[in-house]
Amino acid sequence: MNSNQISLIKSTWGEVISSGDSVGQSFYTILFEKDPGLKKYFTTDPIEQARKFTSMITFFAFKLDNLEYVISEARELGRRHKFYKTPESAYKTVQNALIAALAENLRDKWDAETEQAWNQLYLTLQSAMLEGALV
Ligand code: HEM
Repeated sequence: MNSNQISLIKSTWGEVISSGDSVGQSFYTILFEKDPGLKKYFTTDPIEQARKFTSMITFFAFKLDNLEYVISEARELGRRHKFYKTPESAYKTVQNALIAALAENLRDKWDAETEQAWNQLYLTLQSAMLEGALV
C-alpha cells in the first residue's frame, strides 16, 4: 500500500467511526443480505460482534505505517478464524460487504481512489489471515 492509500484509509475510517456503530451495523446487515447462510457461524450478540470487527479494523487502519506489525496481527486473527470454520469463499463476500458498508456511510466522500485503497487493505489482510490459518 502506498502512503496516499494509507492516509485515505485513516481519514475515511476516522470519519465513519466518529458516527459510532453505524458502519459495523451496516456491514453485518449487508453481509447477511448477501449470504444469509453465513449467519450460522456467528454466535456472539450481533452488536457486540460488530464492535469487535470495527475495533479490529480501527487497530489495523491506524497501525498501517507499521505494515509488518499489521500483517503479523492479521496472521493471528486468521489463525483464530480457522476455529470459526467459515468457508474460504466467504472472504470475498466479507470484502464486498465491507466496501458496500463504507460506501453507504461515507456517501459523497466515497470515490474510486478510496475504494481502491480499501480493496488493497482488505486483500493484504486476507492474504495474511489465510496464511495464518494454515499454521
Ligand atoms: C478483514 C477481515 C476480518 C476481520 C477484521 C475480522 C474480525 C473479527 C474479529 C475481531 C472477531 C472476534 C474474535 C477474534 O478476534 O478472533 C471475528 C470473529 C469472527 N469472524 Fe471475522 N473477521 C474478518 C473476516 C472474516 C471472514 C471472511 C469471515 C467469514 C464469514 C469471518 C467470520 C467470523 C466468525 C464466524 C467469527 C466468530 C463469531 C462468533 O464468535 O460468534 N470473519 N472476526
